[in-house]
Amino acid sequence: MKLLIFAGSTRQHSFNRKLAHVAADLARASGAAVTHLELADLDIPMYNADLEAQGTPPDVMRLKQILFEHPAWIICSPEYNASYPALLKNTIDWASSPVKSDPAWTDEFKFSRGKVVGILSASPGALGGLRSQSHLAPLLLNVQCWVAPRNFALGHAGTAFDADGRLLSDLHRQKVQAVIDQVLLAATRLTDAGSGPA
Ligand code: FNR
Repeated sequence: MKLLIFAGSTRQHSFNRKLAHVAADLARASGAAVTHLELADLDIPMYNADLEAQGTPPDVMRLKQILFEHPAWIICSPEYNASYPALLKNTIDWASSPVKSDPAWTDEFKFSRGKVVGILSASPGALGGLRSQSHLAPLLLNVQCWVAPRNFALGHAGTAFDADGRLLSDLHRQKVQAVIDQVLLAATRLTDAGSGPA
């Protein structure tokens, strides 16, 4: 199963980027073909329809293709003001905007329809960014993803990782693994069911 993992942070010492690394390692050990995407590697401006009218940026086209090619995604979301950050919104807004000049990308939800998505979050706070998840899930449903019922919010993230970015607690690792297992199971079942996740 092709699994895409990305975090909604570009911060150097981001807890969500660390969590994405942990999830990627666990998913590879579970047999998934993992693509770990760093949003910092994409040159994507703030969405602006006037800018878009001059041509969709090349990295948005790259982003659409990467998202489309993976039936399963794991997103690690920071929490800003009890929601997910602008970086994630901007990324998904660009991905969902049809490219009128390209017949392959006139379908707004081609990049996302039927994807099985697991949501993780991490925060220094006690709730672990759980409130970001309650906003991110409806966004993903709107772009026609299947959101996995299992999730995990890593609280007190400042003390949860060792110096090499590994999770210190077995329980935390098990919680991440449970989300991965459910995403891989559901994506495999939906893909086996016929025409790929629908
Ligand atoms: C935050 N942070 C935060 N944390 C939280 O648990 N609930 C919140 O509502 C907020 N709000 C918030 C707003 C803004 C503008 C910032 C910059 C930060 C703290 C946030 O969780 C912390 O900075 C994390 O470290 C961000 O995630 P990364 O970059 O470590 O992945």
